[in-house]
Amino acid sequence: MYIKKRKLARGVAIVGAEMSRFGAFDDRITRDLFVEAFGEMRKAVDKGFDPRDIEAVYFGNAANEQFEFQGHLAPILADWVGLVPRAITRIEAACASSGVAVRQGVLSVASGVNDVVLVAGVEKMTGLSAELTTSVISLGCDQVYEGKAGFTFPGLYAAMATAHMHRHGTSARQLMSVALKNHRNGALNAKAQFNATIADLMARRIARCRERGEPAPGWKAEWDFLEDAEANPVVAWPLRLFDCSPVSDGAACLLLASEDIARQFTDNPVYIIGTGQASDHALHERPDMTAIMAARRAASEAYDMAGVRPQDIKIAEVHDCFTIAEIVATEDLGFFAPGAGGRAAEEGLTARDGPKPINTSGGLKAKGHPVGASGAAQMVEIWRQMRGEAGPRQVAGRDIDLALTHNVGATGGTCVVHIFERRQ
Ligand code: COA
Repeated sequence: MYIKKRKLARGVAIVGAEMSRFGAFDDRITRDLFVEAFGEMRKAVDKGFDPRDIEAVYFGNAANEQFEFQGHLAPILADWVGLVPRAITRIEAACASSGVAVRQGVLSVASGVNDVVLVAGVEKMTGLSAELTTSVISLGCDQVYEGKAGFTFPGLYAAMATAHMHRHGTSARQLMSVALKNHRNGALNAKAQFNATIADLMARRIARCRERGEPAPGWKAEWDFLEDAEANPVVAWPLRLFDCSPVSDGAACLLLASEDIARQFTDNPVYIIGTGQASDHALHERPDMTAIMAARRAASEAYDMAGVRPQDIKIAEVHDCFTIAEIVATEDLGFFAPGAGGRAAEEGLTARDGPKPINTSGGLKAKGHPVGASGAAQMVEIWRQMRGEAGPRQVAGRDIDLALTHNVGATGGTCVVHIFERRQ
């Protein structure tokens, strides 16, 4: 595959990053989540800054019209954080909305048009019934062919999982290894929707049964729980409840600055040295459902721009909207050979203390997946880890000088990959 070598016309750095708490919040709407993330991000800029220095805003949001019946969100968000009359642009690319928004922010700074840009993502998903929410999320797939055939997102990823199992022998237990790991990481992330291991959730359910005077389930280990068809029911075979990311509310914000002024904001910026984006046909039109071509192409473009290889990347946040998606991502990014991602997860290679830590934040699975915010939130974790500020889940004993994020829209119709560098 020919990929033109691209480069940024000037360097771009993240100088501040934070997110709102992710979860299901009855009392909060999109603007509240955005205000919270913006306020948290302001506190994360070491030397402080005047919000009036922000010249433009790019934010991702997938479906606010449907989730909240509110369109033209951009000026409302600008107003709520005091940024009117700055130019603010909303990007819609399904679950890759804020990954693409960050890319647009990077390009606008690299071009020289802007020096300081706010990039963000926000989604409020939990205000509708489960059925309606599922229908809204499904708008990201091809409605004419896939929607009409009855596919929902768990169904589409289940088709990918089935193909991966058939071709590579990937097992249900390997899928569950991803969920176990990501919940372990999420348990150490106070902002995660599931700030709990699967063992914690299991213990809570047992306690609940006891309180109600019902017989307590006999699970001894997390595997017993995950293999219990009642505790972990099939959503779309072979994917069960714990193979799915949850429905979530949340927002994330990052401040970008051109390389030459980044140290005015912090002595410890994180540089964005590679960005790649690609598109693909709808899932039903693809010759192969065991890989996502757009992810491979976006990764190739980003690696090329950054001048690094998959083996140079120390940690990555990848798009694990379903457990199979993480396995496919680690293969598409070149961390493991095609077909070897499931085994790698099962053997602990992607654990926090493994050779290639993946989704130390808890990933979309445990941290939560407010679709339009997820791409930006992945970078919040990278910002923390690269600066040694990830607290109890900090990857220890190695220099995290290079990191990567991988953000997928729907089943991979849009993919965006970024590569980050920390310099001494
Ligand atoms: N993983 C683990 N537990 C989950 C969960 C998930 N993804 N989603 C919900 N739960 C838990 C809840 O915490 C609750 O537990 P409790 O009874 O101990 O309190 C229980 O399951 C029921 O929650 P509820 O909200 O009623 O679940 P639901 O059946 O309405 O939704 C899914 C479950 C899997 C259908 C929903 O989370 C979903 O649609 N996920 C996929 C979202 C998606 O497609 N995103 C875009 C991807 S591209």
